[in-house]
Amino acid sequence: MATRILFHGIAALVITVAVADQSPLQDFCVADPSNGVFVNGFACKDPKMVRANDFYFGGLHLTGNVSNPVGSKVTPVTVAQLPGLNTLGISLARIDYAPWGINPPHTHPRALEILTVIKGTLEVGFVTSNPDNRLITKVLSKGDVFVFPVGLIHYQRNVGYSNAVAIAALGSQNPGVITITNAILRSNPNIAIDILAKAFQVDKSIAGQVQSKF
Ligand SMILES: *[C@@H]1O[C@H](CO)[C@@H](O)[C@H](O)[C@H]1NC(C)=O
Repeated sequence: MATRILFHGIAALVITVAVADQSPLQDFCVADPSNGVFVNGFACKDPKMVRANDFYFGGLHLTGNVSNPVGSKVTPVTVAQLPGLNTLGISLARIDYAPWGINPPHTHPRALEILTVIKGTLEVGFVTSNPDNRLITKVLSKGDVFVFPVGLIHYQRNVGYSNAVAIAALGSQNPGVITITNAILRSNPNIAIDILAKAFQVDKSIAGQVQSKF
């Protein structure tokens, strides 16, 4: 019994640690990208040299340029844009959508995401792990909030006739993005055509055609 409780306690601890960045060991550790030391995150700027602007990012009111094939634009505010986020385990993004634009299926390897619709109407969805691969989807309006569990493939689509805007919060200073189609079809170097053909269960010519579009 005690072993069982201990096991559950350890499992809960592991899960807690796995869904967010590690806890900081000091008030802050403003990123110093010029420091060549490789640590998990960025090395800290001298705390005495830290200024208010290290904790600041301006410009999230600006509309993203959605003139691209998918019709959406992500404006990230991660540790790369806001050095004060280093070790703090959180980041933000603004997402703009053209009418019927999509933020294509993707996953964040290091973060869960909670999304708020600021303007317009979005269809959102995520797919559960194997073997079920269940699609969980919903249409959201202004003011609605939706969560994408860590690691799961998710997407958004503007289902309205005007532009839409959402703000997403992510549980990592550096959530990372893997866009599924790009990762599979536009890797560098390319995944061999016969592997893609077998994975998608299509002829090599069709796999080649799809790959050439990317
Ligand atoms: C938006 O992006 C398109 C395509 O890259 C470009 O042609 C256009 O000038 C951009 N518009 C603005 C306002 O930056």
